[in-house]
Amino acid sequence: MSADLSDLESAGAARIGGAATLEELRAVEAEVLGKRSALADMTQRLRELDGDERRKRGQEINEIRARLQAAADARRTEVEEAERSARLGAEGMDLTEVLPGHGRGHLHLVTQTQAELEDVFLGMGFLVAEGPEVESDWNNFEALNMPPAHPARGMWDTLYVRLNEPESTMLRTHTSPVQIRVMQSQPPPIYIVAPGRCYRRDTPDARHLPTFHQIEGLVVDHGITFGDLAGTIETFTTAYFGPAIHSRLRPSYFPFTEPSAEFEVTCAVCKGEGCRTCSQTGWIELGGCGMVDPNVFTAVGIDPEEWTGFAFGFGIDRCAQVRHGIPDMRVLTENDIRFLEQF
Ligand code: DAH
Repeated sequence: MSADLSDLESAGAARIGGAATLEELRAVEAEVLGKRSALADMTQRLRELDGDERRKRGQEINEIRARLQAAADARRTEVEEAERSARLGAEGMDLTEVLPGHGRGHLHLVTQTQAELEDVFLGMGFLVAEGPEVESDWNNFEALNMPPAHPARGMWDTLYVRLNEPESTMLRTHTSPVQIRVMQSQPPPIYIVAPGRCYRRDTPDARHLPTFHQIEGLVVDHGITFGDLAGTIETFTTAYFGPAIHSRLRPSYFPFTEPSAEFEVTCAVCKGEGCRTCSQTGWIELGGCGMVDPNVFTAVGIDPEEWTGFAFGFGIDRCAQVRHGIPDMRVLTENDIRFLEQF
């Protein structure tokens, strides 16, 4: 029986060592160590032996069983490791791969547009400021002259964040809170633009994305007038879009500016003729602007008797759309290489 046992052990160990997959190993384990295995059979047959012999064989069988089980466990670890590295190898991407004729990739059109807009404003004497995408109610609404429950808050479909008191923290709905942050952190004169990502609970369509980009402008100085605002917008649109695109201001309302205006540029898709992209108007709204409301100055501790200022905010994605005549803005988020490669 001893010889039988040692044959059994070496045959079992060989079977276990030869299992190449987890599935195979499971089958081999059942065969070598399971209820119907030769080893189990031997255990049954112990009954036929007597006293000492029985104890001795029983102990041997138990030791063999323990060694085979240990071998199976060790093999499982090996096979798992091998399967894992095979999987990682198969899933791995070569991020340095350059396909013939495809170059090495480039910045997304929106990122390029943001950089160009920053350049235009830097050239006009503005500095670039930044703020966080998660904002407090105070910065996003209240300090901008919208007290709690102010009806104008309905102009922005807000995505709230579960943090602190309910509805006290949100994904910023516009870049205007950066105005507040800048005015609280430095005294006038202020000439800044603040580009960044914004969020609204909007359904995407040809001219809207729920995640989009704005660039905010803020000027605070002595004797700033609406004429300065209009001149700045005109200078910017000509510098960025070129002479074929015209801009116009239309009276509007924003709680944080008084008076307020919307500014629009010629629809580049139809050159002002009227099309689906511009809802047949020939114009595309880029953003809003106006003279900083005295209540906003008061909220941040700037004396509205001494200082005046203007502000504006408009969509960076819209600028890309107008400049490149993109009929539907949704392509900007779809990551279709055939679209992205063109820019
Ligand atoms: N924050 C406004 C919006 O997202 C745009 C805007 C309007 C910004 C007027 C301004 C402004 O700075 O003065 O709809």
